[in-house]
Amino acid sequence: MSEELKRFYITTPIYYVNDIPHIGHAYTTIAADVLARYKRLYGYQVFFLTGSDEHGQKVEQSAKEYGETPKELADRVVERFKGLWKRLNISNDGFIRTTDTRHKQGVRRFFEAVYKKGDIYLGEYEDWYCTPCETFWTETQLKDRKCPDCGRPIERLKEKSYFFRMSIYQDKLLQHIETNPDFIQPPSRRNEIISFIKGGVRDLSVSRTSFDWGIHLPIDPDHVIYVWFDALINYLTGIGYGDEEEGFKRFWPADIHIIGKDILRFHAVYWPAFLMSADLPLPKRIFSHGWWTVEGKKMSKSFQNVVEPNMLIDEYGADALRYFLLREIPFGIDGDFSHKAMIGRINSDLANDLGNLLSRSLSMVNKYFNGMVPPSHEKGDLDEGLIKISTKAIIEIEPLIDELGFNNILIRIWDIVRGINKYIDDTAPWRYAKRDEGKKRLSSIIYNILESLRIITLLIYPFMPETGEELWRQLGIEEELSDQDINEVKEWGRLKPGTRIRLGRQLFPRIEETLMAKKSA
Ligand code: MSP
Repeated sequence: MSEELKRFYITTPIYYVNDIPHIGHAYTTIAADVLARYKRLYGYQVFFLTGSDEHGQKVEQSAKEYGETPKELADRVVERFKGLWKRLNISNDGFIRTTDTRHKQGVRRFFEAVYKKGDIYLGEYEDWYCTPCETFWTETQLKDRKCPDCGRPIERLKEKSYFFRMSIYQDKLLQHIETNPDFIQPPSRRNEIISFIKGGVRDLSVSRTSFDWGIHLPIDPDHVIYVWFDALINYLTGIGYGDEEEGFKRFWPADIHIIGKDILRFHAVYWPAFLMSADLPLPKRIFSHGWWTVEGKKMSKSFQNVVEPNMLIDEYGADALRYFLLREIPFGIDGDFSHKAMIGRINSDLANDLGNLLSRSLSMVNKYFNGMVPPSHEKGDLDEGLIKISTKAIIEIEPLIDELGFNNILIRIWDIVRGINKYIDDTAPWRYAKRDEGKKRLSSIIYNILESLRIITLLIYPFMPETGEELWRQLGIEEELSDQDINEVKEWGRLKPGTRIRLGRQLFPRIEETLMAKKSA
């Protein structure tokens, strides 16, 4: 594969700074992180971008409520996001804030390109506006005179505004979506967008005069740029558009924008039209995932059920949270968060299956081979099965990564985890330890267990980086886990006999035990 083809640019939405991060935000970012880490593992040069959306009426209003300037609010809240990403081990290569000078310059430049194309005109807007969603609605779109998306009150807005000639891109857009079946995923969402466009798209108001917190139009400083127009361009400015062209050309078009279903229309309708107007290539794929409810209810400040990821990390650990969110539901479908479900997963999959596997395996190495990886001799019954499930997984998982089939990948990895546990039960290595003539067989069995553990560590690492590192350390492997290229280390037999294992902490203590320990402390 040529250098060119091995690049991968992946983005998350940029998060509004009027609200502190919750599990919904963490979900999008974790998914993007897992994808980025897998791509690096499979030899890609990755650029993974996230950031913050800091302009607009919503941020301006929140700042007023807090008695801060919008910039003060943004500076404070952006640290909450950055801090959370650090705790969750998010491996982003860039972080773009829409108040960064490089972003503002890029937005003005983009606007000028679209203006020069003749796609911007001055008109007057009169319609309903939902500030929390930063979206205009027509009379007929309203539901019970409220915002059809979030159900909150709307306000009547009438103002002079610059418009983007969205309508002239309708046919070209439809054609693009129809000829590129993977452009919008999953397919159910793609169909929604197709019917939305077929229903007719109107020109879009892209400037506002009723407030000031935003990027002023280069052609008319009384207007600030509509927050979505501003925000979407982050995908360009975050890699150097208008500033560092070489980096920009290296990574644009994005391989994938990962977003939630609520913001698909902006990404799948408006964004491609803006790019067509600016004569830039379109992103290759837009994937919209489902939404989390909490204990059966929509997460909302008024229900006081917003799940704070930092609390979950304190309680269960970052890796357990990463695992749970991607294992529990297929990416693309809605899901429900509950502590009960999370504890269930931790105890069964992480503590029981994985944690026990590691500790029982390493204690045998300690007991029978003085803590050194023993050599493998001729193959015996049951070995082929174990070797096959471990090595096949590496090949079969690669297309699942591209499909963002996170829960299927984890199911596959846990088939191996359970497969190794079963191999231990079936081969019963301890039987061979009693007789001298059994030593060779014992040695091979233990080698096979450890080698399978090496392979699953590679596969687990993108999902649970801390656990991966700990497994790797306990297996005693010297090379850096994060430097591994799976294509070079995927064959069976790479683990070197003679490697000294390092016994370490229990991977995932069962939850009740921890809680009981805390209570009795
Ligand atoms: N600022 C815009 C995005 C601009 S991108 C050019 C925005 N920000 S947001 O902070 O409100 O939301 C960011 C992401 O969080 C969205 O992808 C959204 O779907 C996701 N989630 C917010 N709540 C969620 C759940 N309850 N569940 C899953 N994801 C959710 O929109």
